[in-house]
Amino acid sequence: MTHPARFPFPPAGDVRPPDGYQDALRTGAPHPVRLSSGQPALLVTRHQDVTAVLGDDRFSRARYTELARPLFARRSESVLLATADAPDHTRRRRAILPAFTARQVRLLRPRLEALAERLLDELTAGATAGEADLVGAFTVPFPLQVICEVLGVPVDDSALLRTEVDILMSTSGHTPQEITAAQARTDDYFAALIADKRRAAETANPPEDLLTALATRPDGDPDRRLSDREVVALGSGMLMAGYETTGNSLGMCVLLLLRHPALAQTLRRQPGRTPAAIEEMLRFTSLNNTGGAPHLVTEDTALGGCPVSAGQIVVPLTDAANRDPAVFADPHAFHPDRPDVASHLAFGYGRHLCPGAELARAELQIAVNALLRRFDVLELAVPEKELPWRRTMFINGLWRLPVRWSAARAARPAAKRPA
Ligand code: HEM
Repeated sequence: MTHPARFPFPPAGDVRPPDGYQDALRTGAPHPVRLSSGQPALLVTRHQDVTAVLGDDRFSRARYTELARPLFARRSESVLLATADAPDHTRRRRAILPAFTARQVRLLRPRLEALAERLLDELTAGATAGEADLVGAFTVPFPLQVICEVLGVPVDDSALLRTEVDILMSTSGHTPQEITAAQARTDDYFAALIADKRRAAETANPPEDLLTALATRPDGDPDRRLSDREVVALGSGMLMAGYETTGNSLGMCVLLLLRHPALAQTLRRQPGRTPAAIEEMLRFTSLNNTGGAPHLVTEDTALGGCPVSAGQIVVPLTDAANRDPAVFADPHAFHPDRPDVASHLAFGYGRHLCPGAELARAELQIAVNALLRRFDVLELAVPEKELPWRRTMFINGLWRLPVRWSAARAARPAAKRPA
């Protein structure tokens, strides 16, 4: 008898998802594995089944979290949204959504454009011989500074917070004690910052940022009330969710452009085509090295025609669903103009759909167009096989992306720059 494979599967060391997903997709049926906690689980890979799990209350994240809590060292309170069910999840999510509406993102756009240009000015000014590491100088600092601004975290603290997040978001390489200590330092940081926000909110010029809004919510309405612990956890959770995903996604988008210089040239001439190309990049790249959130089945039901029983654990894999041949023609090929791209699940589905999706899209579009505008020719400065992949982290991506350019244009004339 063969034993179920251990999950998560090893990362591919590429933009694509782990190779193990392909086997699971081939059969289509829920695929038995053993989780790192030792628990048996079923991987769900078909698009139709993944959306069924993510859209149905009979699959519970909170119940799984309760079940698994004793099996794990304390990792993070920061996933207070991703591991919750209604009504706690609904209440917490309602508190943050106003900061991420399409209108808010539209208002932010000019500042994002200006920030991208400034970071590229600094990158070219600090570079030697037209070479630099884009991850260190652009693809991570850009979304990190954006989320700091949205939350109201001082940008000067971002380097320190990044060191903690690198520990909190690692799957191996740190002891449980190191992870617990990093979590405690991060919680202390946010608790102190929130106390500052409350004091500043009483002054004549209260700050207008998301942490201030969360920290000073009216207590009267129980549907809107957040405990101090929840505000701290939402603060650190959104910092991580806001830049680890977007920064690594942006690095992989740029790598795809380096692999496809003809596409880069097309987008340089027709930047209006960038949003569609980015949707395909989001479908094609895999950000989640650990698969997806496990759910506990709370009532007997079926997935893809196979019965699943109450008490079983299912793990929906959106990165596998993004390559389901029943939805995406030629799913393993990168087609920047594919007509079926809108069905991708890169931002999840259902109640936990990414609240930052519109902000992330704006950041990716603005950053890619700013890079293409700036550099006529951009290429890898090392052989691609030497790129260091983030195999020991929850979020896939590159630690470094060394590039060289033949000629950098000056920044856009100051008069034309948005304020
Ligand atoms: C390319 C960038 C991004 C990608 C691909 C992405 C992807 C995702 C996905 C797939 C989920 C659902 C995970 C699940 O089902 O548990 C999610 C949730 C979340 N994302 Fe994003 N995200 C990105 C950027 C952002 C940004 C900029 C923010 C801003 C704060 C953000 C905040 C969140 C939060 C708070 C959640 C938890 C929502 C919930 O559980 O209700 N994300 N994201």
